[in-house]
Amino acid sequence: MAGDNAKGATAFVTLEPCCHHGRTPPCVDALIKSGVSRVVTALDDPDPRVSGGGHRALLDAGIEVTEGVLADRARWELRAFLNRHVKKRAYVTLKLAISADDKIAAKPGQPTTITGEVARDRVHLMRAESDAIMVGVSTVLADDPDLTCRLPGMADRSPVRIVSDSRLSTPVASRLVASAGEVEVWIMTTSAAKQDARAALEAKGVQVIECLATDDGKVDLGDMLTKLAERGISHVLAEGGAHMARALMEADLVDEAVLLQAPKKIGSQGVAAMAGLPLDTIRASAGFRQLGESESLGSDWLAKYIRVR
Ligand SMILES: NC(=O)c1ccc[n+]([C@@H]2O[C@H](COP(=O)([O-])OP(=O)(O)OC[C@H]3O[C@@H](n4cnc5c(N)ncnc54)[C@H](OP(=O)(O)O)[C@@H]3O)[C@@H](O)[C@H]2O)c1
Repeated sequence: MAGDNAKGATAFVTLEPCCHHGRTPPCVDALIKSGVSRVVTALDDPDPRVSGGGHRALLDAGIEVTEGVLADRARWELRAFLNRHVKKRAYVTLKLAISADDKIAAKPGQPTTITGEVARDRVHLMRAESDAIMVGVSTVLADDPDLTCRLPGMADRSPVRIVSDSRLSTPVASRLVASAGEVEVWIMTTSAAKQDARAALEAKGVQVIECLATDDGKVDLGDMLTKLAERGISHVLAEGGAHMARALMEADLVDEAVLLQAPKKIGSQGVAAMAGLPLDTIRASAGFRQLGESESLGSDWLAKYIRVR
């Protein structure tokens, strides 16, 4: 875009420019052609097709290269992308809206608004910043959610919506399926899914992706995250429900957790946040560390945790 103004200039890029043909031609070729005399980068690209090759190509073309500037900050900003290349699976942020007594719904099957508007807007922003939103199929059956970003002016930032549904019980009449033509819906299932259910969902524009199954016939979540990474998904926002949260925790697949806590209690009839697994396995465990202070969002509180290992 800079045209002739790029000649002799310095270009600043977060990630080492690529030297291979992906969805676009190599960025190093574009930089060399532009006539810049210096390139400053923060991180090496861990993609084996690049991995230092971008920096070398610039040097070979006589361009001065300064590497590693603000590397820690960049590593944080790109953590999901880096995770995808290093661990070969999508990065998971588990988000749960909880009552003061750690419940996520008033009763099984009863849609319940837990947090207020400010917290809801924050969740919608988190959706827009993710590559995908994921829920277990029982959340679709209970709440019939849209799972879109509905912040003013940001509707087009709604990411792919994903349902983990071992036997394809997602109703064809659900809001998710009905809107699959506008915002993508992928259903992750197993070989136990019925072909007629699959055909009905695919006819509505849903992508059905078969994953390995666990011994009890559920979608193998590790395999699911690998399949998502292969399809270009780096960051998944897992929005529950309780069994999905528990399964992700037990498979050690939660990289970050965001707990939005409301001031009111629900009581013993409520749905426990992680289906019997205490939330202290996140809040007070050696496996997670709280990031920064808790933040007040209207009358609710947001606390963010990151996996330590
Ligand atoms: N407050 C919040 O933040 C929040 C967010 C979301 C939901 N909710 C509430 O949570 C409740 C639903 O939670 P839930 O626990 O009943 O259901 P869920 O976690 O949404 O879905 C559980 C279902 O996911 C499917 N699944 C696929 N792969 C799985 C795996 N590897 N492990 C476990 N399950 C797997 C299973 O059904 P199949 O065997 O048929 O595949 C399982 O029964 C609703 O009341 C909803 O309102 C609250």
